[in-house]
Amino acid sequence: MSNNSPIGIFDSGVGGSSIWQEIHQLMPNESTIYLADSKNAPYGNKTQEEIIALSVKNTQALIHKGCKIIVVACNTATTNAIDVLRNKFDLPIIGIEPAIKPAAVQTKHKSIGILATKGTLSSALFHKTAKEFTKEISVVEIVGEGLVPLIEKDALDSAKMKKLLKEYTAPMIVANIDYLVLGCSHYPYLIPQLQKILPKNVTIIDSGQAVAKQTQNVLQQHNLLADTRTRPNLQFFTNTKVDTLKSLLKAFSEKIQVESLIF
Ligand code: DGL
Repeated sequence: MSNNSPIGIFDSGVGGSSIWQEIHQLMPNESTIYLADSKNAPYGNKTQEEIIALSVKNTQALIHKGCKIIVVACNTATTNAIDVLRNKFDLPIIGIEPAIKPAAVQTKHKSIGILATKGTLSSALFHKTAKEFTKEISVVEIVGEGLVPLIEKDALDSAKMKKLLKEYTAPMIVANIDYLVLGCSHYPYLIPQLQKILPKNVTIIDSGQAVAKQTQNVLQQHNLLADTRTRPNLQFFTNTKVDTLKSLLKAFSEKIQVESLIF
């Protein structure tokens, strides 16, 4: 392992590629290996034990491929398994959590919405953060049941997606939220659809940029940033079909490789 080794990123499926985009934008000369565990998506309705076992498997696969740092680009895996991963593996591990704090600090209406998976919203880590930052404000927490399977199928603009998003945002609109926190790395792909439904004064936030910045800081602290002259190798592996990943990342098709792999 050296400073030119890749950054390893995993998610329950294609969603964490939204985090990859932020990482690549911030550190364009870093090589990356992305694992989409789409065969096992969604993680959101699994038990904590199952989420831990899958997160360990993904981390092992990335370490086996020589990664220098692991980014858990999945809120559900982070909130349920990050402590186990950090205890078990001897390399830096970055997680992603819903951006409750910035929303809670900036809301003028004192009302925010959080859309995330059941696994994230019921986790102890989420409860701890929510309790700390939302004492003075009202929070509408909604489980985005069914959204991840539709995103995995690249059905972003389907009638079913529209129906679910209308249903999930309705109580938030009633509560007059002015911030919507996207607590699942799949959901940034739904921002255009959400913007059509939500009132104009609602700001949608996610944690992608913060995770990329944190990854850069930790690499710097460990002296592991890639040489600026290296040409990055940008690899994506999925244990199902490559179609959705390719479609979501079509803007990068010239420079990335997307392959199916059993892991
Ligand atoms: N993308 C994931 C997250 O950030 C997981 C979604 C799922 O598999 O349920 O929570």
